[in-house]
Amino acid sequence: MTKNWFVDWFASDFYQTVYNHRNISDANKLIDLIISKTNLKQKSWVLDAACGFGRHSQIFADKTMNVVGFDLSKTLLLRAKENLIDFNNAFLLRADIRNVCFKNKFDLISNLFTSFGYFESDEENFSFVKNSSKFLRKDGFFVFDYFNQFYLEKNLIPSSEREVNGIRISEKREIKNKRIVKEIFIQNSKTDKFYESVKLYSKDEIIDHFGKFGYKPRFIFGNYDGNNFDEELSERLVIFFTL
Ligand SMILES: C[S@@+](CC[C@H](N)C(=O)[O-])C[C@H]1O[C@@H](n2cnc3c(N)ncnc32)[C@H](O)[C@@H]1O
Repeated sequence: MTKNWFVDWFASDFYQTVYNHRNISDANKLIDLIISKTNLKQKSWVLDAACGFGRHSQIFADKTMNVVGFDLSKTLLLRAKENLIDFNNAFLLRADIRNVCFKNKFDLISNLFTSFGYFESDEENFSFVKNSSKFLRKDGFFVFDYFNQFYLEKNLIPSSEREVNGIRISEKREIKNKRIVKEIFIQNSKTDKFYESVKLYSKDEIIDHFGKFGYKPRFIFGNYDGNNFDEELSERLVIFFTL
């Protein structure tokens, strides 16, 4: 596995097959939660960091907010372009999350569905958090959606198999060097192999790191329905930070 596993995996057409349950209706739930807890209005400016195929950007745009989505994957950005074609209040760009910078300030910055922890060092993983404090409005929110490390470790399924649209998918998972490492085998006419390797951070570690750049947690949820975070029971860690 290369340390740049995320370049190959998110460029692959199979990413959307493997995560086909992470669709617009899944995104709608989280956006409803975000809107209910923040002061977003029509025409507010939203930055969707690592927007993928734009499922959250599309909903923000549909609710008449101005959205800027960025991602590294050309494959996913092309899909996002198709999804956002009808909106003149949505903008896409290709950028690496480690280097991106904006002159204007946003009312909301979102980093959703574990678009985080892909790099080796804490410095790289939190570089966007550090930079973002310069382009988030003082009364704005940074919404961070990641897994609950404790739940993931306790409930790890070492291997599983399933079929999606006639494609056989086998996944092997292990915790190694404080990372969740997944091997993904796609059996089509041939077998393709991909990897994911995401660094594990506890809730307190995340809050400590954000804190170094001036962020304070305002709300902490354990799922997209807005239930309170519970270390034992929550699958997700959704933190609304303010400066
Ligand atoms: C798990 S997906 C989530 C995408 C989207 N937020 C969603 O919920 O559908 C992670 C995203 O991070 C993007 N990504 C990975 N490495 C990146 C990098 N270095 N810079 C910017 N985006 C990156 C991938 O291309 C992918 O779209």
